Amino acid sequence: MTELIILLHPDPRLKKICTQVINIDESIKRLCSDMIDTMYKHSGVGLAAPQVGILKRVVVMDCSEEGEKNPITLINPEIVWSSEENSEFEEGCLSIPNIREEIKRPSSVQVKFTDISGISKESYFKGLWAICIQHEIDHLNGKLFIDYLGPIKRSFITKKMKKYKKDIIKK
Ligand code: NI
Repeated sequence: MTELIILLHPDPRLKKICTQVINIDESIKRLCSDMIDTMYKHSGVGLAAPQVGILKRVVVMDCSEEGEKNPITLINPEIVWSSEENSEFEEGCLSIPNIREEIKRPSSVQVKFTDISGISKESYFKGLWAICIQHEIDHLNGKLFIDYLGPIKRSFITKKMKKYKKDIIKK
């Protein structure tokens, strides 16, 4: 089990558009398995590769009920349909610890992706899974959940995070 280091906001690597994965080679497979370990270690429900400093279109997630483990890996995920109906959910992010904010997003989505064995798939997500996959795909496009907030709230959170990062370096 390898735990990767999670980048904390603000970090320029969290603002970059990630590149498509062309070849699912050993290094990508290793990355996916390390990302799953890291996500569980931090009790997260999703993690995107840029959060561990790899600017590639790779996402892992597991929004199963507590006690169950059903991790999925999505390579080059793309939303092909989203519902008109929206839901509000209090989101958090491993790159922005201790902050939670209500964000409104489509309630369900259809996502095209490649799985870890290289097979093209399309899946329908609803509930927490739908929220999570939209949040993670945003990461691949350099977008954080706080970017949906107004500028005042967002800069307040960024200031708080800068202080948090300084404090953990001191420790
Ligand atoms: Ni996140």
